[in-house]
Amino acid sequence: MEAILNKVFKDLGYDTEIKVIKSNKEADFQCDDCFKLAKIYHKSPMEIGQAVVEALKKEPNFSDYFQEVTFALPGFINIKVSDKYICKQLKTLMKKDILGSTPENETIVIDYGGPNVAKPLHVGHLRTAIIGQAINNILKFKGNKTIADVHLGDIGAQMGQVIYAIIHDFPNQKYEDIEFDLDYLNVVYPKMSALCKENEEVKAECAKITKDLQDGDPDYQILWQKIWDLSVSDIKRIYDYLDVHFDLWYGESHAYKQFPEMMPFIEKQGVVREDDGAKIIDVKEEGDKFDLPPLMLQKSDGGYLYATSDLGTIWQRVKDFHPDEIIYIVDGRQSMYFLQVFRAAKKAGIYNGRLEHYGNGTVNGPDDKPFKTRAGGTLKLQSLISEVKTQFMNMREENKTMDKEDLDKIVNAIIKFADLQNDLTRNYIFDIKKFCEVNGKTGPYILYTYLRINKITKENNGLLSNTIYSDTDRALRLKLLEVSQVIDQASLERRPHHIANYLYELAVSANNFYQNNRINGLTGVQKDDFEIVLNFNNKVLKTLLNLIGISIPKAM
Ligand code: ARG
Repeated sequence: MEAILNKVFKDLGYDTEIKVIKSNKEADFQCDDCFKLAKIYHKSPMEIGQAVVEALKKEPNFSDYFQEVTFALPGFINIKVSDKYICKQLKTLMKKDILGSTPENETIVIDYGGPNVAKPLHVGHLRTAIIGQAINNILKFKGNKTIADVHLGDIGAQMGQVIYAIIHDFPNQKYEDIEFDLDYLNVVYPKMSALCKENEEVKAECAKITKDLQDGDPDYQILWQKIWDLSVSDIKRIYDYLDVHFDLWYGESHAYKQFPEMMPFIEKQGVVREDDGAKIIDVKEEGDKFDLPPLMLQKSDGGYLYATSDLGTIWQRVKDFHPDEIIYIVDGRQSMYFLQVFRAAKKAGIYNGRLEHYGNGTVNGPDDKPFKTRAGGTLKLQSLISEVKTQFMNMREENKTMDKEDLDKIVNAIIKFADLQNDLTRNYIFDIKKFCEVNGKTGPYILYTYLRINKITKENNGLLSNTIYSDTDRALRLKLLEVSQVIDQASLERRPHHIANYLYELAVSANNFYQNNRINGLTGVQKDDFEIVLNFNNKVLKTLLNLIGISIPKAM
């Protein structure tokens, strides 16, 4: 369509590449480039637009593409495409791989999740996990090789604190023989963190343990491993429930193993400077409109920091995978930090590929502040999941006796669709009741649409005719034709909300179709056409739902 229009513009003497955009009610598409050209050619947009419409209508293949093209003041070209063209395009799309999106073939490391060992997952871990997994799914779908790394915080202050507690709670026992469980761990961490806040001496002792651990103390290592195994198995259980998966279960502790190799390398680049005994890298650049402090590489006591571990992690990823890009889906409040790390990594010659931080917003409570429990503490992710489940079960009697696996799929759909319909940078209020509704912009609404349509259509390997039967039929087919671009845009921008929002629009179109077209009792070509369109609709729904981490229940 754009090619023909461009030809007409050129024939009329305009040297330009015009674009056609989706339109609202009046037309299917619109071209508003006449405004731009009016400025360049010192004419009125009307003069240009009207001439283009006139000339376009004389094109020999006009009717293959267009049903009606009109000029509208002050300078729009409104386009209604022909039914024949819609059918032809749909037939082509149905034959294409990856729903007509553009294949890619890069190696991309994705860093999401980022939980801390010895602490339970909380609501703050939700967004990075499900946005990260969605981006991973989308990039893989397009053919990229992705490597997902959970990047555990597994060697920070909390580890020293928990080890301190274990040593005191299990006196006179060999470290190898000490046994404790998850309940113990869940109690001990908050207790220790409170204690360290009020008792300087304990805090210092814990810090000493942490430092020794980081330096490779073999005795502490024994307890560390026990804590790690226990905590990580619990973290995995919840990620599994959410269908969030990682290729690598590496953490900051793995990065520490890179330091003997990486530190001398960095030092040789001449970018490190001493400041009060500490080693730092300046990362401020000319033209920065904000103040960016230097990156601290090593403390004066020789200790390493969060940033050092991220540099070590990049070092390792480059060595192992030679990625084209490393993507971080981490809380947006760390954006300044990542800028420091990225600049330091470039400056120190560790990595020259693309480094991108997609900073996610927070899940908020009714007060629009990051979600807290009623008592004011952080809400465990497990509690949030359970609350959603309970709410959904209580909505209708039938929900209580639902198949367990189906129920879990619906809980996933509720949580993920609520989250992923928002631009990842935004915060949103977690309104459980609203998210569980079957009517509304919700996960259950999309699932319900899919299942309802699945019931009325049969497999059909026929060929689509060139007839369109109603406005709602036409609207649904046009909506389906958007899918390739939606996937490409979501992938290019690393923004899964484009897919979530499209899923909703498609479901609305499909429901309109369902309500306004008699489907039962049809025979012949129309029956075939409807079955083909509806089957494809459900293929698109299912594929896109899977991309954002939602699977379809057997019934609901
Ligand atoms: N564990 C970190 C935290 O709790 C998040 C890790 C994010 N990923 C990274 N490569 N720094 O803040």
